[in-house]
Amino acid sequence: MPRRPFIAGNWKMHKGPVEADRLATELKPLLVDETAVDVAVAPPFVSIPAVVARLKHSGVHVAGQDLHTEAGGAHTGSIAGEMLRAAGCAYVIVGHSERRHGLGEDDILINKKVQAAFRAGLLPILCIGETLEDRQAGRVEDVIGGQLEGGLEGLFADQLPPLTLAYEPVWAIGTGVTASPAQAQDVHAFIRGWLRARYPAYVAEQTRIQYGGSVKPNNAAELLSQPDIDGALVGGAALRADAFADIVRAAR
Ligand code: PGA
Repeated sequence: MPRRPFIAGNWKMHKGPVEADRLATELKPLLVDETAVDVAVAPPFVSIPAVVARLKHSGVHVAGQDLHTEAGGAHTGSIAGEMLRAAGCAYVIVGHSERRHGLGEDDILINKKVQAAFRAGLLPILCIGETLEDRQAGRVEDVIGGQLEGGLEGLFADQLPPLTLAYEPVWAIGTGVTASPAQAQDVHAFIRGWLRARYPAYVAEQTRIQYGGSVKPNNAAELLSQPDIDGALVGGAALRADAFADIVRAAR
């Protein structure tokens, strides 16, 4: 069975409730008829209720951008996966590079968050990716392999296909520099081979691997046509309804 393309928009720290409702209102008619591609948007926490309400029955899913490792408790400023689920989220982004590098999240914490997402009934989108320094030092496979090892620790094989991996080279995020389709495909093929070597064959066949890092309407089709690129995690271009819908169409 071919892997169903999956496009997710990460709104990051943009779009409060009013603007988020406006963007969701613009997106809905553009995406409501989409049957070939799974689509999700990840608004900031405070905007999730507005976006869930607006996108109800549209087929577009809502994702959290992060979650805490615990289901509840004295954790000022944090949001539990269970709360995201109760608010109507289906997915949650885990291990985004802006949290790994900006906030010092390591693979042990990220693995706990992946486990917490499953416990809450959310499907994790686990982000991995090397820095420019790693790439220049020829360490791409070491870094990606280590992030996979750490991030997926303790998961059962049958948890892998529902999870999405997002390969996001740090040097391509928000920089306007995209990995070339061949550069991205090389790493995606490495990731799939990594899965193949460690799990039953269906895991590598079925697990979706998104590419992220300056995906735009004008480069999406070529990236998405690569055999091991199953979708995209889109930042900047997800903030414009027409651009995001164009990227979704490119995934068909
Ligand atoms: P970008 O962000 O598309 O703005 O590069 C991608 C991401 O961080 O997921």
